[in-house]
Amino acid sequence: MKKTILTGLRPTGNLHLGHYFGAGKTWATIQDDYNFYLEIADVQALTDNFDNPQKVRENVYEITKDLISIGIDPNKVHYFIQSQIPEIAELTVFYSNLVTVSRLQRNPTVKTEIAQKKELFGNHGESITYGFLGYPVSQAADITCFKGEVVPVGDDQLPLLEQCREIVRKFNSIYGEILIEPEQVLSESSRVKGLDGNEKMGKSLGNAIYLVDTPEQIQQKVMKAVTDPKKIGKDDPADPNVCMVYYYHQLVNSKENNEKICAECKKGERGCVQCKKELIDALNTFLTPIREKRKYYDEHPEEVKEILKRGTSEAREKAKETMQEVRKAMKIDYERED
Ligand code: TRP
Repeated sequence: MKKTILTGLRPTGNLHLGHYFGAGKTWATIQDDYNFYLEIADVQALTDNFDNPQKVRENVYEITKDLISIGIDPNKVHYFIQSQIPEIAELTVFYSNLVTVSRLQRNPTVKTEIAQKKELFGNHGESITYGFLGYPVSQAADITCFKGEVVPVGDDQLPLLEQCREIVRKFNSIYGEILIEPEQVLSESSRVKGLDGNEKMGKSLGNAIYLVDTPEQIQQKVMKAVTDPKKIGKDDPADPNVCMVYYYHQLVNSKENNEKICAECKKGERGCVQCKKELIDALNTFLTPIREKRKYYDEHPEEVKEILKRGTSEAREKAKETMQEVRKAMKIDYERED
């Protein structure tokens, strides 16, 4: 029997290279080894974007197409839309009794996100909604509704997983051993830096390369990438290890080419403009098969909808089974005759 794995993504924007190298690539390699549930977490996306439902709606399809085009096979993985599984919402309500408000406020992931919001919107704590504070509870329901045994997430998500494990232990100690305490696999701490050298790649920072970027967009972005500031003239030797162009070469170019690039750069035998042009070519070569696959699904939106419909219905079967056990354990299974 294959173990059950569950992971999720918020549909708030297209996937970029950080998503690919930090997560998607690994998911594609393990999809044969697990019973794999992949949640498009639209309800969670709405906690931050409740006033922009159209954005969330569009990105459900965008993200699904991104994921399929990087090789996460819809015939192997259950792609599902969170909002279409009402059992998750039901379980979230039951879990809300098992976690204190102060515990949520102390959750490091939530704390960081609240601090970021304060930075963006000023120091009014009132902007934190009940739904936002509670999203870790909802995420615990996401995982346990499908009896997820393993969750492939990055270190920033670990406090959410720990919160989930606590809720499971509490539930099981009160109502009986029904739920599974999930574990983290494959720590994806290898976060991909932005073209500007920032530790994080993101839309708001304008430093990301998206899988859907056109060759023109890629050219513009790479030309602005940060190189060794000590290198002034084209023939000055430089340190590739402080250069974002070399950093990206290492992601998408061959080992052989990279050895050459590194040696030439150190000896001052390589200009940055030439090096950027080669990176643009390497990125386009890397993205070509992804773009081709994506083009097919852009032209066949009904197939994307069908994939989500099928995955959601498979996922819902599992969620219904779990909820029958949960309701029985909580003595609210009134449809049962006794
Ligand atoms: N919180 C995750 C993120 O922001 C997305 C997510 C939702 C998730 N539900 C999940 C991740 C369940 C793992 C398991 O990226």
